[in-house]
Amino acid sequence: MRGISFWFFFSATLYVLVGMLWGIGMAATEDHSLFPAHAHLNLLGWVTMALFGVYYHLVPRKGAEGLAKVHFAVATGGLFLMVPGIVMALTNNGHLLASVGSVLSLISMILFSVTVYRDRQA
Ligand code: HEM
Repeated sequence: MRGISFWFFFSATLYVLVGMLWGIGMAATEDHSLFPAHAHLNLLGWVTMALFGVYYHLVPRKGAEGLAKVHFAVATGGLFLMVPGIVMALTNNGHLLASVGSVLSLISMILFSVTVYRDRQA
């Protein structure tokens, strides 16, 4: 695995390590109040980013395009805003960060959908 597929997949492993430690922390303290943030870190950070990485590994010509780097930046930015944003929302500190993060995450999925569509085979 190389290039953008490596970075998608490797960063996903880091997110799930943090997510698992967070889960263990929740279980140990019996404080599950932030579980939606943990769930989004794991599902957007691990599952989604790893799937992106697998796709670019399977279709390296798409991984070599500049759009793949833009996709990585937008997906990573969305995650980095959304997870703390959910924590802020859950602790009554406003929804702005979560809102911006969720829109970036949506844009990242639109970019991915366009990428997949443009590589369709006749
Ligand atoms: C060491 C690993 C993990 C631990 C100890 C852990 C622990 C927890 C705990 C304590 C909760 C709160 C449950 C509740 O209050 O209902 C939770 C929720 C959740 N976790 Fe994890 N987790 C781990 C890994 C993961 C991974 C890898 C994923 C996804 C790929 C994940 C996805 C979720 C989801 C979706 C929820 C919300 C479930 C619900 O709606 O009740 N977790 N986790």
